[in-house]
Amino acid sequence: MTKKTYYVTTPIYYVNDRPHIGHAYTTLAADVMARFKRLDGYDVHFLTGTDEHGQKIQRSAEAKGVSPQAFTDEVSAVFRELATDFNFSHNDFIRTTEDRHKRACAQMWKLLSDAGHIYLDKYSGWYAVSDEAFYDEGELIEGPDGNRIAPTGKSVEWVEEESYFFRLSAFEKPLLELYEKQPDFILPKGRRNEVISFVKGGLQDLSISRTTFDWGVGVPGDEKHVMYVWLDALTNYITATGWPDEAPRWPADLHLVGKDILRFHAIYWPAFLMGAGLPLPKRVFAHGWWTNEGEKISKSLGNVIDPYELKETFGLDQTRYFLLREVPFGNDGDFRRDAMITRMNSDLANNLGNLAQRSLSMIAKNLGGVVPAVTLTAEDEALIEAAGESLLNGVREHLDVQDFNKALETIWLVISEANVYIDAQAPWTLKKTDPERMGAVLYTVIETVRRVAVILQPVMPESSGKLLDLLAQSEDQRHFESLDQRLAEGTELPAPAGVFPRFVEAE
Ligand code: MSP
Repeated sequence: MTKKTYYVTTPIYYVNDRPHIGHAYTTLAADVMARFKRLDGYDVHFLTGTDEHGQKIQRSAEAKGVSPQAFTDEVSAVFRELATDFNFSHNDFIRTTEDRHKRACAQMWKLLSDAGHIYLDKYSGWYAVSDEAFYDEGELIEGPDGNRIAPTGKSVEWVEEESYFFRLSAFEKPLLELYEKQPDFILPKGRRNEVISFVKGGLQDLSISRTTFDWGVGVPGDEKHVMYVWLDALTNYITATGWPDEAPRWPADLHLVGKDILRFHAIYWPAFLMGAGLPLPKRVFAHGWWTNEGEKISKSLGNVIDPYELKETFGLDQTRYFLLREVPFGNDGDFRRDAMITRMNSDLANNLGNLAQRSLSMIAKNLGGVVPAVTLTAEDEALIEAAGESLLNGVREHLDVQDFNKALETIWLVISEANVYIDAQAPWTLKKTDPERMGAVLYTVIETVRRVAVILQPVMPESSGKLLDLLAQSEDQRHFESLDQRLAEGTELPAPAGVFPRFVEAE
């Protein structure tokens, strides 16, 4: 039987900047999906990478006085490190300056051109280099100095040059049909509705080449043009499958993106693919944006959230947990230090960490660190069962619609139940009155912890791994199939150690 496959992507990041919370956030979500699907028996492909062409990058390189190639080599390496430092489990890291990608772009252009979707004309209009996006006159707003700016707040400049155009206007109906037929092609729903009304408002043909700079993929047969950076960038998702030679992994199951770049992914990208006669991805999910202590994040305000600082201050898994637990994935969220500390101390250190620590220490002290042979009551069984297949099913259902926060909430319900159980059973009292029952209670708790740890691996790989180490679980006992099993009596457990430290304010 061939294995089920799953292909998930992150946006490829512009290399003009240091990695910030936005970069870590999207890739984290993709990592959790990838890890979950792997444990759930899928053959997973998880792609991330860097978007290295275009005017914005060319200008950043010029400002630094280095060649664009040297500049992108350097910054791309920083993003590659972030992916490693955050324990992201991607299978491929793509750079749009690679030959495999230039070949795919040329082929994409050729298919669109052969199908009659591309024509040469002249573009005159507004362009925001920071967004690498064209804007209609009507979309512009008034900036603080009374000048016109893009709706994103970025400055715009007037562009007038010969350009190739893609007949985007011809795809209005097919796109609306797509959104209709595949209601979860765009999630969350609110964003889907926004896209639908935008498309219903009418689509104009899209300028897809530039002549006034040269840092890009050349247009086949007309090298004074370089391809519009978004046509180039979006194509990365299919390049990475080995296309045009072969593309066994195409289409993608999930493109994860921030809400600001949904339009490119939910309108342009499927239109390009339809035009080229290629299969469409199954879903585009647009997540919200983080603010910092109630303020919009911006470089000029100096309140950019540095993912490395979070990792250093709170720990990697704590940060991973917080980002996905605190806010529903499609919503905007506010990063508050006190909320982070509460999650870290309450959910992780108290509810989960302490549960494991208390029960494992009692087993170490009173049962020689060996998993006891037990007879379980219906109540014990019910708790263990609540942490098994049914919990996994609930979590799976939430993750299948990228509802990370609900998935975690569901897991924490079981952790709370386990805390209520241990307090009610009070094994510390049973120690004297009924040692055998104490063994059964401790067994029930650590078996529950084991199951929770197995299910939590995608979100907190390192800490769950430590919990499973403390339960003497081998690598092949960490798969979701292990949820059907039970901790074996007689298993010798290593000395217990805390897994989730409390946050201590630095002096
Ligand atoms: N290069 C394009 C994507 C091309 S994909 C074919 C791009 N790159 S980017 O480097 O600007 O991407 C930044 C990502 O970070 C986007 O997904 C964006 O939504 C996200 N975020 C930027 N600021 C953010 C927050 N404050 N909060 C959450 N995510 C944010 O766009």
